[in-house]
Amino acid sequence: MEDFSCLIPDRRWCRRERARCAPEGECVTSATARAYPNIALVKYWGKADEKLIVPVAGSLSMTLDDFPTTTTVTLTDGGDTFRLNEVDHDGTSADRVTVFLDLVRSLAVDAGLDTAHLSARVVSTNEGPTAAGMASSASGFAALAVAAASAYGLDLDTRELSRLARRGSGSASRSLIDRFAVWHAGDDESSYAEAVSAPDMAMVAVPVATGEKAVSSRQGMIATAETSPFYPAWITSTQETLTEMIAACERGDVTTIGELTENHAIRMHALIASCRPSIRYLNPTSIAVFDEIAAMRQEGVEAYATADAGPNVFALTRPELAHIVADRLVGFTKDNEAKILMPGQGAHLIDGASA
Ligand code: DP6
Repeated sequence: MEDFSCLIPDRRWCRRERARCAPEGECVTSATARAYPNIALVKYWGKADEKLIVPVAGSLSMTLDDFPTTTTVTLTDGGDTFRLNEVDHDGTSADRVTVFLDLVRSLAVDAGLDTAHLSARVVSTNEGPTAAGMASSASGFAALAVAAASAYGLDLDTRELSRLARRGSGSASRSLIDRFAVWHAGDDESSYAEAVSAPDMAMVAVPVATGEKAVSSRQGMIATAETSPFYPAWITSTQETLTEMIAACERGDVTTIGELTENHAIRMHALIASCRPSIRYLNPTSIAVFDEIAAMRQEGVEAYATADAGPNVFALTRPELAHIVADRLVGFTKDNEAKILMPGQGAHLIDGASA
């Protein structure tokens, strides 16, 4: 990086984009990013590489246009800290943030940046329910990847940011992408998400519970790989479903997209239930919502159910039917609200690095 000198006495040049002369010790470098959750139509469940978070099969998702995570990363020299929704965190979630920041710092070392030795203050606001199957780790790590890369001065394109976000949480790789994303399996280099063309569709969120789930996705995936006799069939059938899904998306075939989505979600929950001991993320209300959606279809209202690793259900439908679907499902929700979500924007900076 080019070296500058500061003409103002007792100040030093903060060697970053939009650099300025600041008093010694006041080179604040921060960046703020926003990312949205994504809901998988073809699910990711299983890792080929635990450390690098490379999946056993590809997956496909819709990025939502609400429930954002907004994250500010400010470089400091006082140790990493993590604050989420006004609460300072230590323990597992803070450790995951530090492990992720270590990765960002190692990229900064490789890029020869003088930020590489700095720690970071991470302040996040999450507008969706955290860790209850509303994909908060996806929006969380996607926002963190974009904000941290910018604060540390890394110049990464969307593909590299997707690979980086993947290392925080696999599904986060897809939240980098606008609207619909396919996340490729492969290896560390080739496992990233990219856009896939798909018709406009709506997701109706049916939150039936907001508590933290008992078994994290990470633990659930390990248990599945170790104990489910159906795991090999899940891997091969997911690859086939993904190929069918990409083709259905590209030809704008909402009916096939919906049928594949619901079937794949049911397969994933059946797979997870087949662990020993069994793991169950859906509760009786979730099942009732799946049944209600099937009943609506019988009556000619085209909607399809899906759920991630938690009890909350999403109904995939045509935009013009979304209000009918939401009105029909609102009675099952915890807070009497069934929000209509549309395809949203990939993770992006809302305030670039300063100093
Ligand atoms: C059920 O991305 O949360 O939502 O990579 O271990 O952090 P880690 O898992 P995570 O798993 C999400 C699983 C899922 C399905 C999906 O989003 O594809």
